[in-house]
Amino acid sequence: MYYSQEVIDEVLNGVDIVDVVSAHVHLQKKGAGYMGLCPFHNEKTPSFSVSSQRQTFHCFGCGVGGNAITFLMKYDNMGFQEALKQLADKAGVRLPEANYSKDAKERAQKREQLLAVNKDTATYYYRLLRSPRGSTGMKYLTGRALSPETMKKFGLGYADGRSSDLTSYLKEKGYEDSLLIEAGVCLFDEKRGLHDRFFNRVMFPIQDANSRVIGFGGRVMGDGKPKYLNTSDTPVFDKSRNLYGLNLAKRSRTGSFIICEGYMDVIAMHQAGFNQAIASLGTAFTPGQAALIRRYVKNVILSYDSDEAGVRAALRNIEILREAGLGAKVLDLRPYKDPDEFIKALGPGEFQKRIDGAENSFFYEIRMMKSSYQLEDPGERTRFQEEIAKKLMVFENPAERENYLQDICRIHMIDPAIMRQLVGSYNRVSSGSSAAAAREQQQLARQRRQRAREDRSLTRQQKASLDKQKLLLTWLTDDPGLYRQIREYISPDSFSEGICRETAIRLWQRLEDGLADYSRLASAVIASFETEEEQQAAAALLETRIPGIESPAEREKAFRELLEAVYNDSLGRLYDRSLTDAEALRQFTESRQKQQKLKQLKLHLKST
Ligand code: GTP
Ligand code: MN
Repeated sequence: MYYSQEVIDEVLNGVDIVDVVSAHVHLQKKGAGYMGLCPFHNEKTPSFSVSSQRQTFHCFGCGVGGNAITFLMKYDNMGFQEALKQLADKAGVRLPEANYSKDAKERAQKREQLLAVNKDTATYYYRLLRSPRGSTGMKYLTGRALSPETMKKFGLGYADGRSSDLTSYLKEKGYEDSLLIEAGVCLFDEKRGLHDRFFNRVMFPIQDANSRVIGFGGRVMGDGKPKYLNTSDTPVFDKSRNLYGLNLAKRSRTGSFIICEGYMDVIAMHQAGFNQAIASLGTAFTPGQAALIRRYVKNVILSYDSDEAGVRAALRNIEILREAGLGAKVLDLRPYKDPDEFIKALGPGEFQKRIDGAENSFFYEIRMMKSSYQLEDPGERTRFQEEIAKKLMVFENPAERENYLQDICRIHMIDPAIMRQLVGSYNRVSSGSSAAAAREQQQLARQRRQRAREDRSLTRQQKASLDKQKLLLTWLTDDPGLYRQIREYISPDSFSEGICRETAIRLWQRLEDGLADYSRLASAVIASFETEEEQQAAAALLETRIPGIESPAEREKAFRELLEAVYNDSLGRLYDRSLTDAEALRQFTESRQKQQKLKQLKLHLKST
């Protein structure tokens, strides 16, 4: 159900974002607004600003921003509706009863029921571990050096050898057989009827980012097979979109996550104080998981087993992380197999040292590649160098590429001048050679990365144009007095289709209405979008950073340049369309004539 605009406005008007943020972040008054340490990234000097006038927040360090609703969504990882409800309570606004479509309502109910089954199941296993019948499991976990606090923190439990005790327990609570099967905690066959799925295992409840139990992993207490048994995918358990330990790691303030292979590794790391540890759920790491990580951190440290499979996984995942725009480093735990064993043997201090010395993922990739070449042979050596040159093409920023080039050449004793030539040749070649193929491959990779960054097939130019449009929209919400001065030249049609134009339409409407009070303009425009995705996008858009120029003349110049750039870009788009569209041609001619007039336009910016 989507709440009406009036209701959302009512809620937003009833709260002050400064109060909302202050409940979580220590804010200090600075100029027209408030500043504090950003809760979304690790920092020592405050770059997180909250404006009571605009009712928005924005971090100049990491770029997050939005209104009171967005803040709660991000801070507590809530959905839009959940955040709205919380604020409505605070504002004393009563929200209308939800009015779901029948289908959506049924799906939501089913999810609730499955989560309830999981919760009861986790409770059952948890209690069993701590009862006399749980002694085998307790002995096993204690033997793996887990403290009672750690077992509690992760809600560890135990399924003993009786194959229908959980089933009876859940049925007594009134759950339908089919629901228990769908939740994956019970199985049915002719011989045994409905019975427990897990037995003779220590149980790891798997929680989502909001600490709801969505599934289970169970480990045999010895050498049986399979070592781990996991819940199959269910409507609440999607292994490709969840991460073990994320509910705890998301509160870690280290700025990066450590991804490892197993539940036990995560638990061992948390017990040793490394609460940034997470793991995928017994399956390969996916782009969906990378996207999930990116909500919380920008960097990741890979900690995979020190064996061949671990290396393969690391190499594959570096690529996935890179495509998601995440930085990666690789931890070397040799001679130990995994974090659990390492910490047990050498302790947290040594583990921290390995973290500090983690290898840049690019260096790691090259180092791994090196082992497959016979470098004494000049031909192989050449191919190794060519491979490096190809890989260097992933860096689009020339300074970054050069820095990597220099370091790699130093590490592998290659003449940097030669490497530069190789890279240059890949840069120039246009077709018909293997270098061209390599370049094409790099280009494809680049495009994939770009898509992953949600820029969906935009050219650099289009992107730059969008950035300007966003800045102009932000500037208008900041200084609404500019609207009447520019509306003759700029209209919602001047903006690219999509979020920019949609935001412009809504902004224009409000500015045209000439509201007496513009103070909540940005927040009102954000709230006027229907879906959560659009609201997020609009919030991000309206937090484009306005250059902090002191001098009024310089500021006016900056705004004028921006105005003309947006105008000219839209003229360019009109021109493209005018080739096939008579109305566009008319508009183009008209706008073209106004171009000179725009240059002479007198602008009055508000004083800062
Ligand atoms: P411990 O032996 O308990 O320390 O676990 P580990 O994490 O060292 O084991 P391993 O490296 O073998 O496995 C890593 C992860 O892969 C586990 O946490 C599971 O999620 C998954 N896994 C391991 N064995 C199996 C299996 O037999 N079946 C399934 N489905 N997953 C497994
Ligand atoms: Mn292990």
